[in-house]
Amino acid sequence: MNRPRVICHMASTVNGKILTADWGDKEAVKTFSGFYEKCHESYKSQAWMCGRVTMEKDFSHGEKPVLTQPAASIPRQPFIADKNATTFAVAIDTKGKLGWKNNRIGGDHIIEVLTEAVSDAYLFYLQQKGISYIFAGKEKADFALALQQLAELFNIRTLMLEGGGYVNGSLLNEGLIDEISLLLLPVADSTPHSITVFELSDYLPKKSATHLQLASVQQLEQGVLWLKYQVK
Ligand SMILES: NC(=O)c1ccc[n+]([C@@H]2O[C@H](COP(=O)([O-])OP(=O)(O)OC[C@H]3O[C@@H](n4cnc5c(N)ncnc54)[C@H](OP(=O)(O)O)[C@@H]3O)[C@@H](O)[C@H]2O)c1
Repeated sequence: MNRPRVICHMASTVNGKILTADWGDKEAVKTFSGFYEKCHESYKSQAWMCGRVTMEKDFSHGEKPVLTQPAASIPRQPFIADKNATTFAVAIDTKGKLGWKNNRIGGDHIIEVLTEAVSDAYLFYLQQKGISYIFAGKEKADFALALQQLAELFNIRTLMLEGGGYVNGSLLNEGLIDEISLLLLPVADSTPHSITVFELSDYLPKKSATHLQLASVQQLEQGVLWLKYQVK
């Protein structure tokens, strides 16, 4: 299958937790975020991808879409809003919930990954905002199909998969991750039921665990370890 190389890039505590809000010490968290961004940049990718929850919390900041009904129904075909864009922010938003102020995050053009079950009004909203979209399945997310379209329609060759835990776990479970880039932070967090790097919803069939090959270990400042693994 033609698809981008997928690198799951995350920062976690020593016990795999990823929710920075539970970690206190805001200064330390800011320093860790700086490491996270720097390591991201070292990959020279064309795109990064996050789940709906991460996008809403960290990037769209809870913006709600204002929906109006289009005059005619809209065909379930990919919509490429900016043919000149070369870098992309990809949102897994299968039900069409995210609202956006404009069609960019930083300099990256937004692509929404939807299912065909979303409303015409939401598609119309994205078209009005100049946001690209693709369909990955009729009702359930088909991530292999999404990746194929990201490669073929947008020429994305390397994609950084950047959380949260549920999106990471879904792609891992489908065997769609090629490399893991993990910043292991000097933090231990016993918050009950908080999300880890890889989670899977109960309704999805769980496949066996993924075995990895350690590719490199780098000690950064402040006791942070940067671990890189290839998927076997
Ligand atoms: N430490 C780090 O490096 C790091 C990195 C990124 C994010 N985070 C944190 O992670 C937290 C969010 O993580 P999260 O796991 O709760 O959320 P998430 O993975 O960002 O988003 C989950 C949502 O994505 C959609 N989704 C995920 N898997 C799907 C599937 N198989 N099929 C269809 N839709 C799917 C669903 O959206 P719907 O509910 O709309 O169906 C689901 O609720 C945030 O607090 C964020 O700050 C941390």
